[in-house]
Amino acid sequence: MKTAKTIEELQDVINAFGQNKTIGFTPTMGYLHEGHLSLIQKARTDNDIVIVSIFVNPTQFGPGEDFKAYPRNFDRDSRLAEAAGADILFVPDVSEIYPEGSTTFVLVEGVSTKKMCGSSRPTHFKGVTTVVNILFNIIKPDKAYFGQKDAQQVEIIKKMVRDLHMQLTIVTCPIIREADGLAMSSRNVYLSPEERNQALILNKSLKDIQGLYRLGETKVETLKTILRNGINTMPLAVIDYVEILDLNTLDAIEKIEAATLAAVAVRFGNTRLIDNIILE
Ligand code: PAJ
Repeated sequence: MKTAKTIEELQDVINAFGQNKTIGFTPTMGYLHEGHLSLIQKARTDNDIVIVSIFVNPTQFGPGEDFKAYPRNFDRDSRLAEAAGADILFVPDVSEIYPEGSTTFVLVEGVSTKKMCGSSRPTHFKGVTTVVNILFNIIKPDKAYFGQKDAQQVEIIKKMVRDLHMQLTIVTCPIIREADGLAMSSRNVYLSPEERNQALILNKSLKDIQGLYRLGETKVETLKTILRNGINTMPLAVIDYVEILDLNTLDAIEKIEAATLAAVAVRFGNTRLIDNIILE
């Protein structure tokens, strides 16, 4: 595996692979876990060249969020990315991605600011779509891989690709969980043992309403109440949102009739966790 820090180095390394190769790209912020590695492995099976980026993107963190504290471990990430099948690791500095004076942003209006994580983190997705757009322009992938874990993120990116007629395919990969059901996240390291234990309620409550849905309950208000009450049984859980929405548009619905997303964001101490399940 080759590591490139600058855009020029990256272009040289890509060119060395020769002409007409398909490129699969997995953008990450590092501190890799099995969730990230599953995206890299999928990219490996689909493409000639697999590129992984590690870039803790300052523009997607709000004031007071954990940009400085975000966990970083380059050596470990590098070993894991290589073992998962990456050919090239792109690890740019902030000044490489945002040279002095850069003032252009990409915003997918509506869904980025008005619902779910967009309501509590109003500038977050603007930073995500901007950096993903920049990375796509630099890397020019044929396919890019995103996790269902960040359900709103992948829907926003698919919309950006459609709206801007970008020439690549977005591939969504399933949520990878710990053996006890906790969705893997780089932020799980922040949880105390007690918080981590109580955080298991997210997957459990989501599975509970999936069970009820399978038994025939389709009223969104009823399922949302049960989901909310389930999470609130844990004293350390502070709900940011509980949503049940159309999977493709993320619009509000009253009854489940098509593919539906049940998604939650909950704080345990200072750590905000998200999780979701698809009801269909
Ligand atoms: P990061 O949080 O590092 O996640 C990188 C990718 O890994 C995302 O597509 C995310 O959905 C996926 N992922 C994380 N946990 C997962 C899990 N448990 N199962 C499956 N996939 C999982 O998301 C970002 O970084 C950034 O916003 C980024 C897209 C890189 C832009 O900066």
